[in-house]
Amino acid sequence: MKLASGYKAFWAAAHKNYPDQTKSGGLLDQGRFEAMNSVVNADYSDRFAKPSSRGWRSSIYPWIFPINRSTKVGALALTYKGLICIKTPFDLALYARLIWELQPRTILELGSFQGGSGLWFADQMSVLCDQPGEVHSFDVHTKCIHENAKHPFLTFHQVDLTDVSTFDKNLLTRLPHPWLVIDDAHVQIFSIFSYLSGLLVSGDYYVIEDEPIRADKEIIDGLQLVQQLGFMVDTYYTDAFGNNVTCAPNAWLRKL
Ligand SMILES: C[S@@+](CC[C@H](N)C(=O)[O-])C[C@H]1O[C@@H](n2cnc3c(N)ncnc32)[C@H](O)[C@@H]1O
Repeated sequence: MKLASGYKAFWAAAHKNYPDQTKSGGLLDQGRFEAMNSVVNADYSDRFAKPSSRGWRSSIYPWIFPINRSTKVGALALTYKGLICIKTPFDLALYARLIWELQPRTILELGSFQGGSGLWFADQMSVLCDQPGEVHSFDVHTKCIHENAKHPFLTFHQVDLTDVSTFDKNLLTRLPHPWLVIDDAHVQIFSIFSYLSGLLVSGDYYVIEDEPIRADKEIIDGLQLVQQLGFMVDTYYTDAFGNNVTCAPNAWLRKL
């Protein structure tokens, strides 16, 4: 697994160069790092789950940080380079991991707000991806995008997501894969999903933020549709910090 390669390399270098320190009691005694080992080298072959097989239990509610203001951890995560970026610290960590693992050539963000999150995605892509990619961010209120939300990989588009025909299909069909789609606009999420899922290929990811937290009939029916369209929940991401500790519970979706 790509995520474990750095860990393996570290221990290979330690055993080769500092064999005395890798013995029991040494500073590089691998046994002392067993917890890390069990996480990094775990067998994740069963990580993909059908949406219908998942419950809605969540170890903690990730938005608890900014809402009750008992800590500034959430507040720190809500800006990026001075711009609003409405992501929890958990989700920022998960996206960074996914971008490195997936190596997306295209990131589509639905819901730009001030442009801070699009800028964050573009910066992450530029440092984590071997090949340059593109971030396309869509919103109806594009005049709120800050002039500092500029990046050579990042383009903003004005689209009313209540009408999927306003997407530029020529643009979408030319964008290279793998894709990472993030729906953070909260409008007609499953009709947009139906439309865009037809353009996704095997291995692409689609994350639906915030709305699945409702776990009501609309969401449960919608995730049934997601399953019928050939997507699985990647529990490596939904459950990385505990069950569904993410603003996209059961909604880190990978196309089969
Ligand atoms: C939660 S905010 C996006 C937050 C941003 N992605 C971030 O992480 O900082 C939701 C955005 O969806 C946009 N939006 C709402 N309705 C829309 C529509 N019908 N079409 C396009 N964008 C819409 C709003 O203008 C708003 O900027």
